[in-house]
Amino acid sequence: MADRPDELQTFLDASLDAFEAHADHPRAQASLAKIRAALAEPGEMAEKGAGRLPVCALLDEVAVPERFEAPDLRRVIKAFGDIEPRLTWEIRGGDMSTASENIAEGHANARIVGPGGIERRSDVWLGVSLLAPHVRYPDHNHPPEETYLVFSEGEFRHGDSGWFAPGVGGSLYNEPGISHAMRTGDAPMLAMWALWAGDRTEA
Ligand SMILES: [Fe+2]
Repeated sequence: MADRPDELQTFLDASLDAFEAHADHPRAQASLAKIRAALAEPGEMAEKGAGRLPVCALLDEVAVPERFEAPDLRRVIKAFGDIEPRLTWEIRGGDMSTASENIAEGHANARIVGPGGIERRSDVWLGVSLLAPHVRYPDHNHPPEETYLVFSEGEFRHGDSGWFAPGVGGSLYNEPGISHAMRTGDAPMLAMWALWAGDRTEA
């Protein structure tokens, strides 16, 4: 069993507590319970992340603990700041036909746990998305179910839903394979996602 650094354990404790406290969908709760159980056993630790993309300068606006009144969200963001320097921030690949034209320079994603993350494993993918203002992320889908925890204003859609704003501390659950997307207005957005891929042998 690998050793998990204290900063990562602190972040995982804080984020799972907050995901569970804010998720209002029963299937999200079930998914998070599987994720929590799996994370009891650490995976393989990566050496070093590749660092930031230019859009990550917006973290100075959205990933500031003092912005959050809710103690649990503040705790997550504080712990996130301690692990962020180890992340590999990336631009999404795949079909961008439904995205805004500024998508390439207007977003960045990083996995904290999962393939390419600080902790490499296939059963749990826990990561973060950052969107600049006025960016429309592409419609996309994936086999693992997914729970979002949102730390900013910003809108989401999934399946046949229209656009809706979960709000700061809001949560949404994406069932396996459902098409979903997010977009920003005048403010940047930070959102975290937790995917359970442990029931899928090919994940
Ligand atoms: Fe997704």
